[in-house]
Amino acid sequence: MGKRQIVEPLNMDFEDVVERVAKHTPERYEGEVEPVLNDGEGGVLDVNQKNQRERADIDEGKEIISNFTKPLTFSKCCPLLKWPGGKTSELQEIQPRIPKHKRYFEPFFGGGAVYFNTINTQAFVNDSHCELMLFYKMIKKQDTDFFALLNDFIEVWNKRSITRKEIYLQIRDRYNQNQSSDIEKALDFFILREYAYAGMFRVNSSGKFNVPFGAAYVNKNIQKKIDYLKSDAVIAKMNKLNISNNDFKYFLNEFSFNENDFMFVDPPYNCSFTKYGEEDFSLKDQDRLRDYLISFKGKFMLVTQYTDYIRKLYEPYNLYTYIYDKKYRFNIKGRFNRNAKHALITNYVPNI
Ligand SMILES: C[S@@+](CC[C@H](N)C(=O)[O-])C[C@H]1O[C@@H](n2cnc3c(N)ncnc32)[C@H](O)[C@@H]1O
Repeated sequence: MGKRQIVEPLNMDFEDVVERVAKHTPERYEGEVEPVLNDGEGGVLDVNQKNQRERADIDEGKEIISNFTKPLTFSKCCPLLKWPGGKTSELQEIQPRIPKHKRYFEPFFGGGAVYFNTINTQAFVNDSHCELMLFYKMIKKQDTDFFALLNDFIEVWNKRSITRKEIYLQIRDRYNQNQSSDIEKALDFFILREYAYAGMFRVNSSGKFNVPFGAAYVNKNIQKKIDYLKSDAVIAKMNKLNISNNDFKYFLNEFSFNENDFMFVDPPYNCSFTKYGEEDFSLKDQDRLRDYLISFKGKFMLVTQYTDYIRKLYEPYNLYTYIYDKKYRFNIKGRFNRNAKHALITNYVPNI
């Protein structure tokens, strides 16, 4: 592996598109919302805003998947759900620096923006979030019971015998009781992701999901999204996916790696306000990850917020560091800089 070096950022066209889309989003929420451009947030945008948003997508050469008048096209994949810390808005930086590889690994998979948008090889992915991985397993299996329950949900949702907020709260209670079957857990998780306020994910100190109902989504229609989950493009993508639910180190210890393997590593940031589950990703975990990465036998790309702590952690090693600006759309009570430095740290020379 070569000498450590710092390279200049690319131009920021993709960020500009994200900013433009953000400008046309009618509500500004207290929380980071992933600027997923093509996930069909029906009922949130009005027609003008929808046209502007789609224009931005088209300018960017992106496929449109929305709940509006345009027919869905499924030739290309995008993440199956919104996920805090998702990398859709940083693909422009990440994608050109991915090396050729035979096997793809992702130990902190989350919404899998990199996998769904860019990877076509056999993939081994993992996340410590149990319900998230159960959800992927249901989609991979195209589980008929899961989709039948989803249909039942849509019927209840459309009947409106109780308010939609009440339905949401009942589902949130059942999810938090953590006593239902795997299918129900995956289902509740998916519904909460779709209808939670501002698409936020947050758990309290006892690990209970506590995001309120997103009133802006009261008329959101998820039928198109369900069709997408059953589409050929998603099925093909899921067929290449091997899914694990574990701590990253246990997951990685299952494999022996070689230079044809590529691993994309996107852990929680060490200053993150987002708690994905009961456990935080502590500084000790950051150290543990660094110890693992410096002796990794394949190629890896780590994406991380470039804090002093992270810089000191990786500086002593022969790695390549590429730094760029990440513009956050939301500032959470001063806990996040609107502009923060992110870094891609690789153990190989990137193409550009
Ligand atoms: C920044 S997110 C990954 C986002 C993803 N790259 C995307 O595009 O959506 C970090 C993920 O790490 C997971 N995680 C946290 N601690 C973990 C651990 N010890 N082992 C494995 N996964 C963990 C979280 O559940 C979360 O999904």
